[in-house]
Amino acid sequence: MIRAIYPGSFDPVTFGHIDVIKRASRLAAQTVGELIVGVLNNGSKTPLFTIDERVSMLLEVTEGLSNVKVMSFSGLLVDFARQTNANVVVRGLRAISDFEYELQMAQTNRKMNPQVDTMFLATGLEYSYLSSTIVKEVAFFHGDIHEFVPESVAKRVQEKVLEVTRT
Ligand code: PNS
Repeated sequence: MIRAIYPGSFDPVTFGHIDVIKRASRLAAQTVGELIVGVLNNGSKTPLFTIDERVSMLLEVTEGLSNVKVMSFSGLLVDFARQTNANVVVRGLRAISDFEYELQMAQTNRKMNPQVDTMFLATGLEYSYLSSTIVKEVAFFHGDIHEFVPESVAKRVQEKVLEVTRT
């Protein structure tokens, strides 16, 4: 049985992430398995959204995907995998520029926990340019982000931009 984790910062979740979640949940479902979206709580990056806000957005966008759970984690991904009995890590690959870092992470994780394998899903062509960083950049300059994230997420990003620029 596949019990997979799709880890990330999701700051915020984009259509590209949602595409990977849907496809990975379909793959997991074929083996009566589960997909855990693991939201990182201790990155080196300073996120725009709090961990609770990121989890809440993911819960909204994964509503209806019955084999998908959303959980936050801190510390090492391999420890989170052990705690949740996960045997697969799923990551999306957008372009060759993602590959080196992703390969390094996959191999480090496998060295630390040989029970866990990383599975890469090629991002849908229509989302290959998309990243959370780009979404935030466009939003901070008051550009339209509806092509990049669901309506509920766009609303939260716009509110957050107003909140941050006011202070
Ligand atoms: O969405 P991101 O920021 O590209 O996701 C990166 C993430 C969360 C997958 C990665 O930073 C991670 O797994 N962090 C947890 C700490 C860890 O296990 N580091 C060692 C991996 S080499």
